[in-house]
Amino acid sequence: MERTAEELAREQREISISEFFEKNRHLLGYDNKIKALLMIVKEAVDNSLDACEEARILPEIYVKLEEVSPDVYRIQIRDNGPGIVKKHIPRIFGTLLYGSKFHRLRQSRGAQGLGISCAVLYSQLTTGEPVEILSSTGDGTTHRYKLKIDIKRNQPQILEEESLDLGQWHGVQITFLAEGKYKEHKQSVLEYLKETAIANPYAHIIFDSPTGRVEFPRGSEELPREPKAIKPHLHGVELGVLERMLMTTKARTLLSFFTTEFSRVGATTAKQICEKAGVDPRISPKRVEDEQVKKLMAVIKETKLIAPPTDVLSPLGAQLIEEGLRKELSPEFVVAVTRPPAVYRGFPFQVEVGLAYGGEIQETRLYRFANRVPLLYKQGDCAITKAVETLDWRRYGILGDMQLGKPGVPLAIFAHICSVWVPFTSESKEAVASYPVILKELKLALQEAARKLSIWLSGKRRAEYQAQRLKTFEKYAEETAKAIAELVGEPEERVKELLVNIIRRGKNGGETEREAEAAGASGA
Ligand SMILES: Nc1ncnc2c1ncn2[C@@H]1O[C@H](COP(=O)(O)OP(=O)(O)OP(=O)(O)O)[C@@H](O)[C@H]1O
Ligand SMILES: [Mg+2]
Repeated sequence: MERTAEELAREQREISISEFFEKNRHLLGYDNKIKALLMIVKEAVDNSLDACEEARILPEIYVKLEEVSPDVYRIQIRDNGPGIVKKHIPRIFGTLLYGSKFHRLRQSRGAQGLGISCAVLYSQLTTGEPVEILSSTGDGTTHRYKLKIDIKRNQPQILEEESLDLGQWHGVQITFLAEGKYKEHKQSVLEYLKETAIANPYAHIIFDSPTGRVEFPRGSEELPREPKAIKPHLHGVELGVLERMLMTTKARTLLSFFTTEFSRVGATTAKQICEKAGVDPRISPKRVEDEQVKKLMAVIKETKLIAPPTDVLSPLGAQLIEEGLRKELSPEFVVAVTRPPAVYRGFPFQVEVGLAYGGEIQETRLYRFANRVPLLYKQGDCAITKAVETLDWRRYGILGDMQLGKPGVPLAIFAHICSVWVPFTSESKEAVASYPVILKELKLALQEAARKLSIWLSGKRRAEYQAQRLKTFEKYAEETAKAIAELVGEPEERVKELLVNIIRRGKNGGETEREAEAAGASGA
C-alpha cells in the first residue's frame, strides 16, 4: 500500500542523544558484560586523574568491585581531586554531552563530555538503579545525590539530594549498580589499572577486587608538566567550522577574528589573507558572506603559517616511562624515547616509546596509550599497532616475525601518543587513527628505542658467550686435571683448582692486557 508524504511525516521526530546511545551503547564500548565493568571504572578513573592533575594534586584513587547478585556489581570509585561544585553535579552525571573539556584544546584524558553520563546510562539500563555521588570541594560540606537520566529529555532526574558533614575532605565518590562480569584477563579492570599505573606512576591506586586487594604504589612523587590550552590552528580548521566561528565570535572585525581566535596568526598575515581573498578586513565577522568564506578558505590553504605552539603538551618523558615499566613489569633492561612534538591537521602531538626486556616479562606485548590512558581494545585498528608491526625488528636483532602476544621474546613495547586532540577512530576512544605523520613519528621513536635495545642485547649476548666458553673450558679442566694428577702424583682437586685459576686468569688477564694497551696508547 502506498503512503503519502503526510502520512510518512507523522513519523518524524527529534531524537535525544540519550535515546540514541540507549540504542547504540556499543558505540561507547558497552557491548558485553565484561567490557562494561571496565568501561565504567575507566570513565571514572580517567576523570579522577584528569581532575587531580588539573588541580595539581597527587592522585589517590580507590576502586571497589563487589558482586551483589549474579552478574550484578556494585562499582565504587573515589578520588582525592578538587571535587565538583554542587550546581554542576546533576548535569555532569545526568546529561549526555556535558563537560568542561570539549570546547578547549588541551591535553587531557576526557574530551567529549560523554564518558561518565554514559556509565550512568548503562547502569540504569541494566539494573534500573540510580547512581550515588558524593562530592566535596574541601569546605567541610559533602553533597550527596542519587540520580538517573531522564532519557527523553537528556536531563538529570534527581531522586535524593542532601548536604552532609563528613568532615574535611575533597574529591568525588561515585557508586554504580550495574550488570557486569568480572574476569582477570588482558582486557580487564585489573589490566586497565595496572597499565594506568605504568603510564601514571605518580598515582597511588588501590583496587578492592572480587578476588582481593591489589595495590599500585607510587613510583614517583612528581606530577608531569601541566599541559596548556591552545587556540585552533588555521590549517586545521574546516569550512563549516570557520563559518560557525565567524557567527559566534566576539571579535568586532574580521582582522581581529583571525588574530584572536587562532593560534599564531599575526595582524600582517591576517591582512594578507583578507586582501588576497578580496574581503575587507574591517568588516564584522558576522557580515562575511558564504562565497567570501569559501575564498578565505582557499587562501588560507595556500598561506604559509607558523606551526602551532608545541610546548603545550605534557609527555611523560623517558624517566617516568622507565620508572613505570620497571615498577610494574620488573624487566632486566628498559629504554625510553620521547620524540619532539609534531603537528597533524593543525593539532600538536607527541609520541613516546619505551621498551622493556627480560626479567619477569614472558612474552612480546604491546602496551598502547593515548594521553596516558591505556587502550585495551581495537588493537588491530590502531596506528600504534601498525607502526609496531611494520617495523623491521629483525634489523635490530630483536624479533623474528612480529609475534605480538606469543611467548618467546620477553619484550614489552610501550607506546604513548599525547595531543591536544587525539584522533580516535570512534567515540569509545580505543584506537588512534593512522594519519601518515603520526605513523611516521611512531616509527622514528620505535627505531630509536630499538637501536638502543639492540646495543644492550649484543652486549648481553657477548657476555653470555664468554660465560659459556668459560663453562666449556672448566668442563674440560676436570678431565685434564685427572690426567695431570696421575702424571705428577698430586691430588686431583688441587690440580683442578690450579687449572681453573689459570683459565679464569687467562680471560681476565686478556682483558687486563687490552686495558693496559689502551692506557698505554692514550698515555703516549
Ligand atoms: N572526579 C571528578 N572530579 C572533578 N570533576 C569531574 C570528575 N568527573 C567528572 N568531572 C567533570 O565532569 C565533566 C564530564 O565528565 P565526562 O567524563 O562525562 O566527560 P569528559 O571527561 O569531559 O569527556 P569524555 O567523554 O571524553 O570522558 C568533566 O569534563 C569534568 O569537568
Ligand atoms: Mg571523562
